[in-house]
Amino acid sequence: MVSIVYLNGEFLPLAEAKVSVLDRGFLFGDGVYEVIPVYQGKAFRVREHIQRLERSLAATEISLVQKEQDWVVLFEEVIARNSQKTQDLSLYIQVTRGVSAKRDHAFPAEVKPTLFMMATPVVYGADLGSVKSIRAITLPDNRWTRCYIKSICLLPNVLLKQAASQQGVEDAILIREGYLTESSSANVFVVKNGVVYTPPKTDYILGGITRDLIVELGEQGAFDCREQEISEQELLQADEVWVTSSTREIIPVTELNGKAVGNGKIGPLWYNVAKRYQAYKAELVTR
Ligand code: PDD
Repeated sequence: MVSIVYLNGEFLPLAEAKVSVLDRGFLFGDGVYEVIPVYQGKAFRVREHIQRLERSLAATEISLVQKEQDWVVLFEEVIARNSQKTQDLSLYIQVTRGVSAKRDHAFPAEVKPTLFMMATPVVYGADLGSVKSIRAITLPDNRWTRCYIKSICLLPNVLLKQAASQQGVEDAILIREGYLTESSSANVFVVKNGVVYTPPKTDYILGGITRDLIVELGEQGAFDCREQEISEQELLQADEVWVTSSTREIIPVTELNGKAVGNGKIGPLWYNVAKRYQAYKAELVTR
């Protein structure tokens, strides 16, 4: 099936979608993005994703203002043109400041944002038995101090993930001034003595939509979840570690810095929380 993408008002086959080399996204990484999981044709937590996109746009002063309903209509159209009913997708939305006649760091006076969307097939982890744990290493968080913006400037994240990959593991968990922030492309949870912890939302992390749902499930009494600073030491002594994101859902980390996390097996709290996450999803799909 040919992937149909959206670019500046048009739906096009992927190969026909073209952006100018003078686009500031290309020249400066001057843009923001979103990634929304789509389960059997239904976009997950759309309002939360739109609100985060609006916050990223406001923080970068990219003026693309659309009503929530207009975003939803656009998303549904991209999904409908790429959906094969039972297939799950990842919806990618990117807004750059747009094309300027001249390369200049400062914002151009007149510029129209570039809006691009694509939907990619993904296999999510609905079958808990087939979810594979990952290995990770800790690395210093050497990114900027505005990580709450979902910026397309991902070079630091790319280099951190690549450093992990070169050490033969799947992710880098980041430490800033002795405390856990997040991973190169996901939020992090740790479990100690039956309690689930995740760092609070500060400028140093991206407020993940997956993360927020887990915190909400905890608030509903499903398990004890606390938003609290986690030191590197606490991370290294955790019983369980997980990474969470819209493309990976909740993935257990069973090896950290070459040592087993807890007993080195996927932990009971992971099963508990992942099961509740899948139940929440299943309810959304049937609604
Ligand atoms: N990344 N932190 C970072 C640095 C991320 O890049 C992501 C997601 C998250 C998790 O956020 P959410 O649960 O809303 O997906 C946290 C996306 C999926 C990406 O870059 O592809």
